[in-house]
Amino acid sequence: MQKFGWYRGRLCLSSLFYGDKGYFYFRYKGELIMRDQLIAIRKTAEAEILSANDTASLEAARVKYLGKKGELTGILRGMGALSADERPVIGQLANEVREAIETSIAAAASKIEEKNLQSKLEAEKIDVTLPGKKPPVGKIHPLTSVLGEVEEIFLGMGYSIASGPEIETDYYNFEALNIPKNHPARDTQDTFYISDNVVLRTQTSPMQIRTMQKSKPPIRIIAPGRVYRSDAVDATHSPLFHQIEGLVVDRGITMADLKGSLEVFAKRLYGSDTVVRFRPHHFQFTEPSAEMDIRCFMCQGEGCRLCKGEGYIEILGCGMVHPNVLKICGIDPDVYSGFAFGIGLERIVMGRYEINDLRLFYENDVRFLRQF
Ligand code: DAH
Repeated sequence: MQKFGWYRGRLCLSSLFYGDKGYFYFRYKGELIMRDQLIAIRKTAEAEILSANDTASLEAARVKYLGKKGELTGILRGMGALSADERPVIGQLANEVREAIETSIAAAASKIEEKNLQSKLEAEKIDVTLPGKKPPVGKIHPLTSVLGEVEEIFLGMGYSIASGPEIETDYYNFEALNIPKNHPARDTQDTFYISDNVVLRTQTSPMQIRTMQKSKPPIRIIAPGRVYRSDAVDATHSPLFHQIEGLVVDRGITMADLKGSLEVFAKRLYGSDTVVRFRPHHFQFTEPSAEMDIRCFMCQGEGCRLCKGEGYIEILGCGMVHPNVLKICGIDPDVYSGFAFGIGLERIVMGRYEINDLRLFYENDVRFLRQF
């Protein structure tokens, strides 16, 4: 009472009407104003929160009402001026208002979150009726696919598939094949030497020796693989190319078996109207030896660009296994005989698809590879 004596002196007129209540009137009014303000804040805050339709505007509303410099905080700061009995009343109301605002913010936040999720789901909806995106699909290289066909043909005739090292000894690559050191036959195969006695194999023929050393007749194998020759690259030469070696050893094998088997192979690979011819040739490890040609399927033997006017295209070398080679491998040439052949894989693929440049196989240009 003492504190507000000043009011009472000044407001004697009102004291006249209200007596002691004059002071109370003013105090009561202060509480009233705060109560109204709190209720008003709650109302406007709730309306604003309700109309906030994104996280940013909701946060702005939170700062505006509940923040450190917010409206509610501002009012609460004024509570110091209230009397001790008014303070808890207004304090409780303020708490209620704060809680109410917080509750509506939380409700609005989850609504906005739900709305955001919905629109995200809407935006990311997958239209299952749209045509799919096709990832680029690789293709089997023509050398690989034709090799696969060749393998199938020979497997069908009862052969099995063998493989061996690309780094060979001079013995397997030459000597055991009846090509002694300093023999002129070595000149035809420009050899990559790793050391005096170790080479990159120049042919798949060493697989004949390795097979005969490992297994007893009857033998029927093909051995496809990479071979190497120190040739400069051009349209018909490459330092790396592929051969498919073939070997059959048994009792009573003759040149007729060789011809029959290889003719069947050519007809299966190129079609049943394929015409083959055998020309005498020389290889150190076969006797007699031959080369097999197929009649040019472009000109039917007339002579054209593909067969370079020959009418025929050479596809393999072959012959009856030389008795020396059988002996070296511990097979008695008086009991057993055999035939062998070596097919140039690039050559048969070039013939098949009319490819005129060997380099296309190794350059990996997808425009070329896509055609097969
Ligand atoms: N190895 C020979 C070469 O590279 C090809 C060959 C010819 C293999 C006759 C054979 C064969 O098995 O009997 O020129």
